[in-house]
Amino acid sequence: MKRTLISALVLLLAGWCNADAKCEDGSRLWLRLDTTNAVKAITGVKGTAMTELQTYWKGGPVTLKRQKGIANDGYTIKSQGKKTVIAAATDAGLLYGAYHLLRLQQTGQQTALLDISERPFFDLRILNHWDNPNGTCERGFAGKSIFLNPDPKRMKMYARANASIGINGTVLNNVNAKPEALSDESLKKAKGIADQLRPYGIRVYLSINFASPIRLGGLPTADPLNADVVNWWKKKVNDIYRLIPDFGGFLVKANSEGEPGPQDFGRSHADGANMLAGVLKPHNGVVMWRAFVYNPQSSDRANQAYEEFMPLDGQFADNVIIQVKNGPVDFQPREPYSPLFTAMKKTPMMVEFQITQEYLGAANHLVYLAPMWEEFFSFVKPAGLKAMAGVANIGDDTNWCGHHFAQSNWYAFGRQAWNPALTSEQIADEWLRQTFTGEELVRPMKQVMMDSREACVNYMMPLGLHHIFAGGHHYGPEPWYKPAGVRADWTPPYYHKADSIGLGFDRTVNGSANVKQYPDELCNIYNNINSCPENLLTWFHHVPWDFRMKSGRTFWDELCHKYDDGVKQTRRFLATWDAMKPYVDCKRFKEVQHKLRIQARDAEWWRDACLLYFQTFSKRPIPQDMDHPVHNLDEMMKFRIPITMYENPECGYTK
Ligand code: GCU
Repeated sequence: MKRTLISALVLLLAGWCNADAKCEDGSRLWLRLDTTNAVKAITGVKGTAMTELQTYWKGGPVTLKRQKGIANDGYTIKSQGKKTVIAAATDAGLLYGAYHLLRLQQTGQQTALLDISERPFFDLRILNHWDNPNGTCERGFAGKSIFLNPDPKRMKMYARANASIGINGTVLNNVNAKPEALSDESLKKAKGIADQLRPYGIRVYLSINFASPIRLGGLPTADPLNADVVNWWKKKVNDIYRLIPDFGGFLVKANSEGEPGPQDFGRSHADGANMLAGVLKPHNGVVMWRAFVYNPQSSDRANQAYEEFMPLDGQFADNVIIQVKNGPVDFQPREPYSPLFTAMKKTPMMVEFQITQEYLGAANHLVYLAPMWEEFFSFVKPAGLKAMAGVANIGDDTNWCGHHFAQSNWYAFGRQAWNPALTSEQIADEWLRQTFTGEELVRPMKQVMMDSREACVNYMMPLGLHHIFAGGHHYGPEPWYKPAGVRADWTPPYYHKADSIGLGFDRTVNGSANVKQYPDELCNIYNNINSCPENLLTWFHHVPWDFRMKSGRTFWDELCHKYDDGVKQTRRFLATWDAMKPYVDCKRFKEVQHKLRIQARDAEWWRDACLLYFQTFSKRPIPQDMDHPVHNLDEMMKFRIPITMYENPECGYTK
């Protein structure tokens, strides 16, 4: 009592963040469990489940029981008097059950009278690390690769965090893979990591370079139909399985953005994927073959993957999964779903989401991504997919993800892969309760999280705009960027097509006909400017500046308002967080506040740059009833944010 009084007094006098709370650095992620017993780790996956419970469970006795008839890695948790029984058919199921119980404890839910039955929706729930051998992470904003010099403590925490949310696979290296990924030395290293992750039910996978037989093996060709090439892969795969008996398989980026692939040898994606699949098959390995392809000649990049892959539907071996990004262009704040998902009927497919915020403010902006993935699943039924992959936002930063709130995206990815029917709001609630302490913070910050993705769309690219980022990086706005010699589809005007008539990419049947790649019903909706959802309007249409929107405003006025709404939302996020001061430990409070300030300034930069630039085409005034730009276009056009600032999480326009 006395202590509470004193700390309340301290808070009142200092008006400061919760100094009474131990300063936290985010390194424990959502697993902020107090140790109840320090026990010696028991080996094996079941052993891990026992160790976790013995170390952290505060309730009565728990029995772990192997029981047939429970599907894949599912489990049941049942209370029997004071005892709790976790039953599963597999050890991994027992481990997931143990983490479920600990989650109940940590989120303050009841742990008595339990009758729970769970099973993972997708069998394969996998992180894709875009980590390079030199320790950099492509599109990573949280420091260096955790796999560069794998620190056992860190690896253990990584494994626990993943297992606690059901992630059961990890691709260790960048899809832009170096042939050396398969060198003896790299494989030995991969074995070391696999050994550390195995007790947590996590398998490792590798990205491969399709030209490895040439560049690593010294063969004259990497033609997938050449017998020497096939033998080279067989031997390599045998070597891998000798080291890593439960190795998961390969992830392949082929004939995409300059990476080698079967087309270099006159063969198709199916020829390439099936050759690797044949070699992996005896070991139960899989091939995740990416459909992220586009070439500079195409008049619409959004059409490409469909055009290349649809003719191959039904031609892939049964252990090939085509890995498709959620949208047809590239991880934008909002895209329609990639039409391949509904078009390819005879080929197993998996979705690739991007957890790292390459296009959503890097590690500077608070953008909770689960609503975006939820939106995807409202169009693409999870039942039609085999698996879910997420490009990781993890690095060696103390707090793992660069921004404390970016941890929620890693968390949400795992939870949605386990159960895509969970709502983004439920997941945010769970995550907040585990990551912070106290009820006061949950409701307001959940609202911030839930609003944050739409806010990002508003201040960056509202109403269907996309890919209007600065040249050389994907952080700030540069809708005018179009230097001579740069391929058109790497410049914003290719996507926004601003002119005196209006704004947006005509993908209707009269334009690039991209709408035709969607099922008829959606095609008709998207094709008609009056029925096209406004949040995708300039994605599918070249919209006249005076087009009448549902709000009654002209398109130009609506665009202005959307940008301004985005700016206002970020200011509200900051104000909400500032009011959280008494409930958060000092370090995390200050770090998040710092980032939210950057975000609010960046949002203003986006609004001003985009509106002032588009105004040179629309020739219409900024509406009176909103905040007006505070920067000058010519100043913003002169300012180029250096790439190092994007890669460094401390970047930001005003820095
Ligand atoms: C994006 C990203 C690249 C990445 C590529 C991919 O274009 O900017 O860094 O390599 O996607 O997914 O293959």
